[in-house]
Amino acid sequence: MFPFFWKRQKPDLRQLRVDIHSHLLPQLDDGVKSMSEALEILRNFEHLGFEKVITTPHIMGNYYANTPEIIERKLNDLKTEVSKSGLSIEIEAAAEYYMDDQFISMLDNKDQLLTFGDNYLLVETSYMNEPMFLNEVLFKIKSLGFKPVIAHPERYLYLQEKPEKILELVDRGALMQLNVNSIIGFYSIPTKKLARWMVDHETIHFLGSDCHNLKHFNIYQKTLGQRYFKKALSLSPLNTSL
Ligand SMILES: [Fe+2]
Repeated sequence: MFPFFWKRQKPDLRQLRVDIHSHLLPQLDDGVKSMSEALEILRNFEHLGFEKVITTPHIMGNYYANTPEIIERKLNDLKTEVSKSGLSIEIEAAAEYYMDDQFISMLDNKDQLLTFGDNYLLVETSYMNEPMFLNEVLFKIKSLGFKPVIAHPERYLYLQEKPEKILELVDRGALMQLNVNSIIGFYSIPTKKLARWMVDHETIHFLGSDCHNLKHFNIYQKTLGQRYFKKALSLSPLNTSL
């Protein structure tokens, strides 16, 4: 149950409707540990007014060696549990691809990639260093007909040190996905600072929870009452188009 004050502060989430970044398929990555945890989080999303959750397991070298088949199978298991539980929230799956040599090979080989909506491809990078050939990889993604969405740019040190680089990436056709919890400094103070810079500079195309567990979700729902979240929502993120 949500506390009493929450009911008074609950924002109008019709301007969001869909969450596009989470880790709710158990045991595929560092996300939820069990089906019951996934179900509880989905129940909470539904209570908040969300109509759909697009969950995005990591695909990262041998560390998270997920394939479309593995993800599809686990998604079907979760869908079965969701319908048994009487929830009406819709669940889809894509993936969060780590930009490394393996990912570049997948692009070169024209492997099947998991996208969401209008061919959006969620990609994360190293937290520390700008990937070599970042511009070339973005070009390659676009030339294959995908729309690159950079996951949580506000968390990357190389962008915290040079926020203007975000504007350059947007000019090159990259879309930016902000983690809602970044707004309140859940990850770090520099992350919060860049998150708010992105809101102020209107360089946000998608909002995501990046929910890995119930603790994340509890912080997420508190962040929804924050002024900067409402300001981010007023930028009309593309979530509603999905
Ligand atoms: Fe993630």
